[in-house]
Amino acid sequence: MITPRGPALWAAAALYLFTISPLAADGSGDPAAASSSDGEYSDKAGNPTFKIDQDGTVDWYTSVGYIRYTANCMQCHGPDGLGSTFAPSLVDALQTLDYAGFMDTVTNGKKNVSASQDLVMPAFGNNPNVMCFIDAIFVYLRARSDGALGRGQPQKNAPRPEGYSATENACMG
Ligand code: HEC
Repeated sequence: MITPRGPALWAAAALYLFTISPLAADGSGDPAAASSSDGEYSDKAGNPTFKIDQDGTVDWYTSVGYIRYTANCMQCHGPDGLGSTFAPSLVDALQTLDYAGFMDTVTNGKKNVSASQDLVMPAFGNNPNVMCFIDAIFVYLRARSDGALGRGQPQKNAPRPEGYSATENACMG
C-alpha cells in the first residue's frame, strides 16, 4: 500500500530548500533585508544588505555598488568580484569576512608579502570616490557572494531614493 507520507515529506523538504535559498548566511550573517532607510537596506544585525525583487530589480545601492566596484576595485579584484592574478575573489572573501572586517581592510589596506608574491591592498580611507560609496560596494559584493546577483551590470534598478543626491554631495564635499 502506498502511504502519502513519503511524497508529503519530499514536498516539505523541497519547499524548505526553496525557501532558504539563495539567502544562506554569509560572513555578516543572514543577509535578508529587515529594515530600510531612504532606500538603503539593513539586515537584522544592522549590517548593510541588498534587496532584490522577484523580477530581478535591485535596490539603488546595489546598482551604485556595481558601478563603483567596477571603477575602483575591478582592475585588481577582477570583473564581477571574481578575483584575478593580482587580488583574491571578493565573492569568496565575503563568505567569511564580515562587514567590520571588510571596512577595516578597505580603510587601512592590507599587505601580504612572501617570497613568491608581493600583494598589496591599498588603503582607501582618504579616498571619497571609494569611502562615500563603500556601503554600496559592500552590498553589491554581498549580493554576489550570496549568489543573489549574477555577473554583469544589474539590468533593472529601483529609482534613486529622495535624499540620495544630497547625501552623496555632502560626503564628496
Ligand atoms: C591595486 C590593486 C587593488 C585594488 C585597486 C583593490 N584591491 Fe582589494 N586587495 C588587493 C590585494 C592584493 C589583496 C590581498 C591582500 C592580502 O592578502 O594581504 C586585497 C584584499 C582585499 C580584501 C580582503 C580580502 C580577504 O580575503 O580578506 C578586501 C575586502 C578588498 N581587497 C576589497 C577591495 C575593494 C572594495 C576595493 C575597491 C574599493 C579594492 N579592494 C581595490 C588589491 C587591490
